[in-house]
Amino acid sequence: MHPMLNIAVKAARRAGSIINRASLDIDLLTIKHKSNNDYVSEVDGAAEQAIIETLLEAYPNHAILAEESGSQGDSEYQWIIDPLDGTTNFLHGFQQYSVSIALLQKGVLAHAVVYDPARNDLFTASRGKGAYLNDRRIRVSKRINLKDSLIGTGFPFRDFTHLDAYMGMLRDMMQKTSGVRRPGSAALDLAYTAAGRLDGFWEIGLNPWDIAAGCLLVQEAGGLVGDFQGNETYLQSGNIVAGNPKVFAQLLQVIAPHLTEQLK
Ligand code: IPD
Ligand code: CA
Ligand code: CA
Repeated sequence: MHPMLNIAVKAARRAGSIINRASLDIDLLTIKHKSNNDYVSEVDGAAEQAIIETLLEAYPNHAILAEESGSQGDSEYQWIIDPLDGTTNFLHGFQQYSVSIALLQKGVLAHAVVYDPARNDLFTASRGKGAYLNDRRIRVSKRINLKDSLIGTGFPFRDFTHLDAYMGMLRDMMQKTSGVRRPGSAALDLAYTAAGRLDGFWEIGLNPWDIAAGCLLVQEAGGLVGDFQGNETYLQSGNIVAGNPKVFAQLLQVIAPHLTEQLK
């Protein structure tokens, strides 16, 4: 394992133990309301601090972009961190959440970790070296037809600007796939796509920390990731489609008729 990936794994596991410990007594947590439907607890902050400490101890000159504390440093190496992806699930004791850590080198995704602390599932990838779940190599599914596919998504829940466009997409997906799921952690949805548990995924308006690690997992597992036109702006726009190559193309076709100027 590359030393930088190894450090990222150590950081993710430290965050995971903080999350697991806190999950035993969720009622004791102080919950803050960040904005409409957007909650955060001290666990998010504590997990993020543990991750940043671990990374900076090994690489003091690297830069950071983290959900709760923002950006720091200036370097060709930038770590992108979501300390707890799926906070709403976590706060309800619904065990579908993850820690997401990615490293960008000169703007290119180099290493990725998505860790599911409730199941102790560790998804990792390094550019050009494949994607893994624990010690096993993972690959995207082989399903060819969208009608046989299980597709993950995320519903809009704090910003409803694109709700009509989204509902159009969902309506068509419900009719053209074998099922649609909204698990609640985008990072884990992408990891599941990499592992072939989902055949594809789409969501509007995510942040880079939700998807950076998951994107590399999907690519290294042989899948494709794009924005709604199949281009490479997904980390900036947060509009993302991912899947095995056959399903990816079909997802783009279902999404296309619903795209407004803003979503193109
Ligand atoms: C959220 C999760 C969710 C997605 C949201 C994200 P958070 O992250 O990834 O699945 O639908 O858009 O904001 O806020 O729990 O870190
Ligand atoms: Ca997130
Ligand atoms: Ca988060």
